[in-house]
Amino acid sequence: MKKHTGNMSRREFIRKSSVSAAALGAFTVAGPLSAAVPPEVKKIRVALVGTGSRGSSTWGESLVRDYGDYLEMVGLCDINSKRVDYARRKIGSQIPTFTDFDEMIRSTRPDTVIITTVDAYHAKYVTRAMELGCDAISEKPLCTHAEQAQSIIDTCKRTGRRLNVTFNARYGRSSMKAKELLMAGEIGEIYSADYAEFLDLDHGASYFRRWHGLKQCSGTLLCHKASHHFDQLNWWLDAEPVEVMAYGDLNKYGRNGPFRHLNCRLCVHKEKCDLYWDITKNKLFMELYVNCESEDGYYRDACLYRNAINIYDTMSVQVKYDSGTLVTYSLNATVATEGQYIVFHGSKGRLELHNYDRRSWNVAPGTNIRLWRNFEDATVVPLESRRVRGGHGGSDTLIKDVLFKPGAKDELGQRAGMRDGIMSSIIGIAAYTSIERKKPVKITDLITFA
Ligand SMILES: NC(=O)c1ccc[n+]([C@@H]2O[C@H](COP(=O)([O-])OP(=O)(O)OC[C@H]3O[C@@H](n4cnc5c(N)ncnc54)[C@H](O)[C@@H]3O)[C@@H](O)[C@H]2O)c1
Repeated sequence: MKKHTGNMSRREFIRKSSVSAAALGAFTVAGPLSAAVPPEVKKIRVALVGTGSRGSSTWGESLVRDYGDYLEMVGLCDINSKRVDYARRKIGSQIPTFTDFDEMIRSTRPDTVIITTVDAYHAKYVTRAMELGCDAISEKPLCTHAEQAQSIIDTCKRTGRRLNVTFNARYGRSSMKAKELLMAGEIGEIYSADYAEFLDLDHGASYFRRWHGLKQCSGTLLCHKASHHFDQLNWWLDAEPVEVMAYGDLNKYGRNGPFRHLNCRLCVHKEKCDLYWDITKNKLFMELYVNCESEDGYYRDACLYRNAINIYDTMSVQVKYDSGTLVTYSLNATVATEGQYIVFHGSKGRLELHNYDRRSWNVAPGTNIRLWRNFEDATVVPLESRRVRGGHGGSDTLIKDVLFKPGAKDELGQRAGMRDGIMSSIIGIAAYTSIERKKPVKITDLITFA
């Protein structure tokens, strides 16, 4: 089932609008709009639930500081009263704080609620916000369980409220360039794609120290982390998944550790643990997490060898799309270096993206895109340098512009809605279900849009 622009798929639309390859630089990169704000712009009343790292900085501090012409932050909520108080101080304003979501909505009357809690609670707040008459903006993954996905679909339909999902990975430079090239038909019909994600022993290991290590919180990394990648694939391919088969193992962390303790700070094995991590060196984390431990018992520096870890660190997934494209995806969180290899094979050629993390720059430069047309040598596709500042290479700024600045351009269809959020999460949910059932899982066995 392809997404359509009128009667044409987006790819056909672009082709017929005679945008060609040339495409190798032709599209406008969505950027901040000009500074002039029309006087008639009514400020959106925004409330936020989940005032941890992402909520207090990207969607808290930054929105209040840089988007005050478009919105007013009217309420902050978190189950941890100390963290929500700290978030208010960090944001630097007098925004009312709450530990009860319904009370926040009743007393602050927001138009839109931003949801940045632990993943497993996104669906609960998205649906509750809509039932209480608000639009919702959810961090990825939109949901971690098939029942949650269905409840979001049903609630959206019943309430008619608007939902956006913050897939900032769509705004990366190489991500956008790949979309332009694929939309322009540079490699023709896409037969297959390979997506390999490598997480190193710093970034990769960090997921196992946090709530992400528990499936009941994150839906495994197949939802938490891979939801970015499954969304990119759905968007790049302009297609929807129909069937998923997956394998997963826990090779390094959790029960595999040589010893374990509650958390790094108090650990008696510090000297011999090659993954020991000292949170006390990070002032922000001390304030945001350590000083708030008394409220919920959450350790941000929990032992990554704790037995409770029930997610995978090594995953392999096959996805069949309604367009016929076959995808091979892998995610490994135990790797000596960090980066991505993404390859598309089409009827007219091959497109390859290599993204190397900055820690690997002594091996090769950051991003490399190569295009092979059949029977021709590869060409290196240039990437324009980006002047936009902000988290994730400026992507966090671009997504906020599209969400909050009236009239922001969206030529590549980067604004992601309910169906995009569901289709990304559901691949992860189907993947862990396939691992558990040891057989392929059809998407229609998990959810229905009817
Ligand atoms: N798009 C991105 O690049 C990106 C980057 C980082 C995080 N995220 C997403 O942002 C979300 C938050 O991640 P984080 O790193 O800030 O985590 P975090 O642990 O710092 O914050 C999570 C917050 O949710 C609160 N919380 C937990 N359960 C709750 C509940 N039932 N009701 C209300 N509040 C609750 C916690 O107290 C905590 O303050 C996650 O969904 C994550 O996937 C996205």
